[in-house]
Amino acid sequence: MQLKIALLGGDGIGPEVLAQSVKCLKAIEETFNHKFEYVEAPVGAIAMSGSGKPLPNETLKLCRESDAILFGAIGALEYDNNPEAKVRPEQGLLSLRKELGLFANVRPVKMFPTLLKNSPLKESIVLGTDLVIFRELTGGIYFGEKNISADGTKASDVCEYSEKEISRIAHMAFKAAKRRRKKLTLVDKANVLESSRLWRKTVTEIAKSYPDVTWEAMFIDNAAVQMMLKPTQFDVILTDNMFGDILSDQGSVIIGSVGLLPSASIGTENAMFEPFHGSYPQAKGKNIANPVASIFSTVMMLQHFGLEEEANSIVKAVHESLSRKVVTPDILGSSKYGTDYVGDFISEHIVDSEENLNIN
Ligand code: IPM
Ligand code: MN
Repeated sequence: MQLKIALLGGDGIGPEVLAQSVKCLKAIEETFNHKFEYVEAPVGAIAMSGSGKPLPNETLKLCRESDAILFGAIGALEYDNNPEAKVRPEQGLLSLRKELGLFANVRPVKMFPTLLKNSPLKESIVLGTDLVIFRELTGGIYFGEKNISADGTKASDVCEYSEKEISRIAHMAFKAAKRRRKKLTLVDKANVLESSRLWRKTVTEIAKSYPDVTWEAMFIDNAAVQMMLKPTQFDVILTDNMFGDILSDQGSVIIGSVGLLPSASIGTENAMFEPFHGSYPQAKGKNIANPVASIFSTVMMLQHFGLEEEANSIVKAVHESLSRKVVTPDILGSSKYGTDYVGDFISEHIVDSEENLNIN
């Protein structure tokens, strides 16, 4: 298969972790005889220091023309410490999502048996966790009208959803539930918010077309608690932009490191793959960031193109690194391995599993 892949490293540790993903993709090209073309482009704070814009026009154009986008991370300390700044690096990511119509953010949270001890929660609670969050990504309070009064003492952000926006992601989530353990939880705040009540009404209708999927609705406050008490009760979680942002970071606590979790942002024309984690500017250039979230994001990219064997070969190599404890310091505390070393190890352990089986 031939693919044109846009590489948007962005800020902080973004470019470092993305470089490890590219190593893995090059190994996939060689092992499975594919041809991937890579084109780099700036986004975020780094782009602002060049063109002044967090999403330069050329970057957006490249993304539109590419088969897939691999994204590193976005955000810089100088802006985090200055909430007054009108133009912000995060706008680069938000505009990309909006411009490309990437309405579904898919965030799997799966416990690896080798990492049970890494979770701050009890092993008996996290063992067997395997859930996936479908977060609506181009609507809601993130993109509603924003206002601040002239004297700066009153501000508002509107949370708005249409039936169409809800139903397109709801269908995706129900289809995923059908392929998985056939359970879906809609997370909302329908006891208070009108927009949540539209989610309930729309999802109740759509559920009728998926009779083999059992579904329930849960308020966000309760869902936050349930996710910590019994994460294994969840299969597919369907929720809006803001609740999904918070719940997915919370989900990463189950695994014990945000450095392990990938995500896919899917639209009708384009797809982007990025780690859960942010730009972690304190770690920039120190070779300590965990590349696995980025590498797993490339796994989701390969799966998106139906390249299951290729995807599995990377997953296997990551498991090999985890079981041999070739991991960065965020995992299991005592590791001495750097980002580069872990990336080399994983990419060098990518093999065609059939070949592997023949040898054994
Ligand atoms: C995420 C991030 C972004 C979001 C930020 C960087 C705008 O936290 O992808 O979860 O809030 O969506
Ligand atoms: Mn977030």
